Amino acid sequence: MPTQPRVMPVPELDERARACASRLLDSDRVLLASHIDADGLTSAAIASRALERAGLDHEVVFKKQLDETEIASIAAREFETVLFTDFGSGQLDDIAKHERAGDFEAVIADHHQPADAETEYHLNPLLEGIDGASELSGAGASYLLARAMAERSGQREDNRDLAALAVVGAVGDMQAVDGELVGANRALVEEGSEAGVLEEGQDIAIYGKQTRPLPKLLEYATDVRIPGITNNEQGAVGFLEELPVDLKTPDGDGEWRRWVDLTDDEKQTVVSALLQRALERGVPPNKAERLVGTTYTLTDERPGTSLRDASEFSTLLNATARYERADVGLAVCLGERGEPFEQARRLLETHRRNLSEGLEQVKRQGVETAEHLQYFDAGEEIRETIVGIVAGMALGVDGVDSDRPIVAFARKNEEELKVSARGTGPLVGRGLDLSVVMSEASRAVGGDGGGHDIAAGATIPDDRREAFVERADELVASQIG
Ligand code: C5P
Ligand code: C5P
Ligand code: C5P
Ligand code: ZN
Repeated sequence: MPTQPRVMPVPELDERARACASRLLDSDRVLLASHIDADGLTSAAIASRALERAGLDHEVVFKKQLDETEIASIAAREFETVLFTDFGSGQLDDIAKHERAGDFEAVIADHHQPADAETEYHLNPLLEGIDGASELSGAGASYLLARAMAERSGQREDNRDLAALAVVGAVGDMQAVDGELVGANRALVEEGSEAGVLEEGQDIAIYGKQTRPLPKLLEYATDVRIPGITNNEQGAVGFLEELPVDLKTPDGDGEWRRWVDLTDDEKQTVVSALLQRALERGVPPNKAERLVGTTYTLTDERPGTSLRDASEFSTLLNATARYERADVGLAVCLGERGEPFEQARRLLETHRRNLSEGLEQVKRQGVETAEHLQYFDAGEEIRETIVGIVAGMALGVDGVDSDRPIVAFARKNEEELKVSARGTGPLVGRGLDLSVVMSEASRAVGGDGGGHDIAAGATIPDDRREAFVERADELVASQIG
């Protein structure tokens, strides 16, 4: 047994976590099925490590989307126990059918909106009034399960070291509220800090602190736009050159250092000057403030690698799993370096290019507006696995109304379109629930969908786009109209 008394960080979910853990520990072998994004990969890594430490034989499979066909393929593997992480709740109706048929018994650790059917081993924050879009992710649910497994199995490790991956999953699912993890996620941050694998701090809140040379860091930072610096290479270089500190590498080759290479004083100098420049150029103070925020550092990882920062780590993972290389992302999560890490870095280059080309594509083609939402159809120009990320990024660009939800279409296969919808915090505050919109509008046209209030998706027949938009528009109107 663990030597220290264990305090379950999220008491509301404690019983569910324990029941799921006991069920798993009673299994001979487990099929672990997870989702192909950063949260799904970290969920799988956490669960896989927990199963391994508890001495349970298991296999891992990844799915782009869990639907009837995929669940049938899982059933065909003839595992007695299937652990679903980062999906499963939304497909409970179908999973329950297989359970009744005796195909397998399911254990689910998820945070998506549950379907109506019931199942015995179901760990989901939404079942206990905890928000699944901002307070606990799939990786967080998997972490609670891993903690309960450690407790129940009597193993040596308490699994708190896995909190770092859970935070990467939460950050990857964009659960941070005003830049900071809240709710049940906070408990994970605290446990990770106590276990010495995670550090929370205040720092410049720009993506790429670990890996980008300074001018690129500033040029590509688009969350807070600073005229003359954002998307302006010469402007960014000029700004840095005017500062009273030398930010080039010491060996005199003229190369710029990265944010991680700076001393605290140098960082302070850059932040102050940047804030001042933003205000001078008319950025409202409440926006400029967002240049500084909470960051999550994985202290066991090497400084200057993308694995050191939760946000960069999560993007690296998306770059693998969304391109059919979940195996690479999983290996990296499980601590393999060397070749899998090199491969992930190569995939990241492609991912970045695709995101930036995708955003350019949206800017070029523009969005069409319905009464209460806006949409674009990327056809084959944007990969269906990343069109949702692009849609989210598009909500921040000129020409796209940040006051209406955005719906994106991309071709999935010969007969179907993938739909991704994204909203904003204020819209959700007014009643927007995209999970309901996607699930009902897709069902109305013979498709299938679900997700969260702020971000959801669907698959629909490709000749029903117009009818889908019309229905979705009505649903949004009834929520916030
Ligand atoms: O499948 P899953 O739950 O992992 O995906 C969540 C999706 O929701 C991510 O693509 C994330 O970008 C999006 N999201 C968002 N804004 C939020 C929370 C989540 O766009 N505030
Ligand atoms: O892929 P993911 O959604 O995790 O990306 C997280 C954020 O990283 C994006 O919303 C974007 O702001 C930032 N990013 C970036 N430049 C890229 C790719 C991602 O600034 N080329
Ligand atoms: O694919 P996308 O990033 O747009 O997904 C947004 C959210 O909607 C994710 O949480 C995803 O798991 C969910 N989703 C779903 N059913 C679908 C498509 C997406 O639950 N058919
Ligand atoms: Zn998730």
